[in-house]
Amino acid sequence: MTVILGLESSCDETAAALVTGDRMILAHRLAGQEAAHRPYGGVVPEIAARAHVEVLMPLVEAALQDAGHALADVDAIAATAGPGLIGGVMVGLVTAKALSLAARKPLIAVNHLEGHALSPRLSDPELAFPYLLLLVSGGHCQLLFVAGVGRYRRLATTIDDAAGEAFDKTAKLLGLGFPGGPAVEAAARAGSADRVPLPRPLLGSAEPHFSFAGLKSAVLRARDSGAHAPEDIAASFQQAVVDCLLDRTKHAMAKAQGATALVVAGGVAANGAVRTALAGLAADHALRFVAPPLWLCTDNAAMIAWAGAERLAAGFTDPLDIAARPRWPLDPSAEKARGAGVKA
Ligand code: KG4
Ligand code: ZN
Repeated sequence: MTVILGLESSCDETAAALVTGDRMILAHRLAGQEAAHRPYGGVVPEIAARAHVEVLMPLVEAALQDAGHALADVDAIAATAGPGLIGGVMVGLVTAKALSLAARKPLIAVNHLEGHALSPRLSDPELAFPYLLLLVSGGHCQLLFVAGVGRYRRLATTIDDAAGEAFDKTAKLLGLGFPGGPAVEAAARAGSADRVPLPRPLLGSAEPHFSFAGLKSAVLRARDSGAHAPEDIAASFQQAVVDCLLDRTKHAMAKAQGATALVVAGGVAANGAVRTALAGLAADHALRFVAPPLWLCTDNAAMIAWAGAERLAAGFTDPLDIAARPRWPLDPSAEKARGAGVKA
C-alpha cells in the first residue's frame, strides 16, 4: 500500500502526517501558533513563517518515528503549495522539495482547498463522487460541485468576508479572544439567539453567493449600543451565519444534480450549530450528510497527505520547480463574483 508524507504550513498550523492509500492515518503531528499570535488578535504572516521554519522538520521526524517509517519507505511527498500566507507556504513547499530530492520520491503540490475538499473521503470510505461541498474556513466560503479528483465546479463564493473570518472578527469585537470560532461558539452556548436582531445578507437572493461584511458591521453596532450581553450577540451572530449558510446551500442544491451527498469541510465545519443545521437540510433532501471529525475540519496535514494519495492514484505528480501560490482557485473557470476583495 502506498504511504504519503504530507506537510501543511499555509496559515498558523504547522503539521506533518503519514497516510496510506487505503485511508490509514499512520501518524499526524500538529503544532499550533496561537500563543505567538494572540497578542495581535490575528495571524501575523512574518511570525507564522518563522515559526514554520523552526518546527516543520522536527514534526516530520516525529511523524516518521510515530509511523515507524524511514523517509525511504514513503512513496511520495505532498505539501500545500497554496493558497495561503506565502511565507509559510514557501517553507512547506521548499521542505517537501528537499525531501523529495533527497529520497528520490515524487513531489505532489496540493491545493490547500483540495485538501479540505477531499478530507471527507479520508474519514468516510463510502463517500463517492460527485458531491456537493460547503467549504467554510478562515479564508474561504464556497459551494463546490466535486466531480472527481481535480474536477471542481464552483457554484458560489463570498463577495466579501469568509464565514470563519466573520467568526474571528466577531470574537475580536466582543473581546472573546483568539482563535475566534471556538470562542464565539462557546459564548453562544450561554446566550440566546433571538435577543439581537441581525441581518442575513443575501438570504433568498437569486444570485448564488455569500456575504458576511454587513453582518460584522451589525455586530459592531449591537456591541456599541451597550444594550446587549456579549453572549446574546454571539448566539444571534452564530444563528445568522447558520441561516445564511443553509439558505445558500439550499440554493446550490438545484445546480448539484447527481450529488450523492451534502458534505461540509474547513474550520467552520467544526461548529456544532453549523453541522446540526446542515444535517437537517440534507435529511430534508434525502441526501447523505458527511462531515469529517472535528480535528480533520481545521487545518492539518492528514488531509494534505490524503489529497496527495488521491492525486498520486490519479496519476498527478509535480516538477521540482513548481511555484508556491498565494492565490490558487480550485475552479479557475468560475466567473468572478461581484464586489471588491473577491476571494479566489
Ligand atoms: O480551515 P481552517 O483551520 O484554516 C483555514 O484554511 O482558514 O479554518 C480556520 C477558521 C477560523 O476562522 C476559525 O475561527 C474557524 O475556522 N473555526 C470555527 C470553529 N473552529 C474553527 N468557526 C466556528 N466555530 C468553530 N467551532
Ligand atoms: Zn484550511
